[in-house]
Amino acid sequence: MATETARDRHALDEQAWERVWDPFVRLAHWTLAVAFVVAYVSEDDPLTLHVWAGYVVGTIVLLRILWGLFGPRHARFIDFVYRPDKVVLYLRDLMMLRGRRYLGHSPAGGAMVFVLLILLAGVVWSGLGLYAIEEGKGPLVGIVTAEGTLDLSPVTTARADDDDDDDDDDDERDEGAEANEEFWEEIHETLANITLVMVILHVAGVLLASFVHRENLVGAMVTGRKRAERDH
Ligand code: HEM
Repeated sequence: MATETARDRHALDEQAWERVWDPFVRLAHWTLAVAFVVAYVSEDDPLTLHVWAGYVVGTIVLLRILWGLFGPRHARFIDFVYRPDKVVLYLRDLMMLRGRRYLGHSPAGGAMVFVLLILLAGVVWSGLGLYAIEEGKGPLVGIVTAEGTLDLSPVTTARADDDDDDDDDDDERDEGAEANEEFWEEIHETLANITLVMVILHVAGVLLASFVHRENLVGAMVTGRKRAERDH
């Protein structure tokens, strides 16, 4: 009967797909992608937009780390931690347009998740440090200051060490504060640029894996569903 055939086909269709990315992972991913691009493109003009985009990135990174510990199966870090040699082997296979298909993150995809989360955390932390020093605002005020309460700059540390002359103290402090600010700015910009390179590699990897495994991974990050079978 026609209705039975349609129902059967529907049942088969249901079986052939598996829910892999939960709603939080998907919403967090696309919000993170937009917030990162907004923060990168806006730089410090307007600063408010840049700072708020940065806060969004930081919040998502924190929530994603918690989700990686307590979330559902494919969102958990334990689901996509692989030994480095597995990551290298997977990448080699992918370059040769072959390789095992994974339902959750592949070894290389999983490694990239960790790299991106660590880099993003560094970008946000250094951004907050800079915001505290330059504007005297944000959660790191009092922890990182222009005078360098948490002064990691090798320049200021060296200068402070060999300074015995009290008359030059103020000048030295000004120079120290400036060097400290430059130091945090350098870290922030360098980490942001490295993150951008990683994002480009991330998207290239997604497209290559989509091609090799004949599936739409970008679509899966939208719908949450992937073909059920594990290997192609
Ligand atoms: C147009 C741009 C982007 C596309 C098409 C894209 C696509 C994807 C896809 C398909 C996945 C799943 C990978 C898999 O199947 O294993 C993924 C995961 C991920 N992407 Fe992107 N991505 C984009 C931009 C970004 C940006 C800008 C960031 C960060 C700044 C980012 C961070 C991540 C992270 C952290 C994951 C892991 C998701 C999770 O497990 O929660 N992506 N991306």
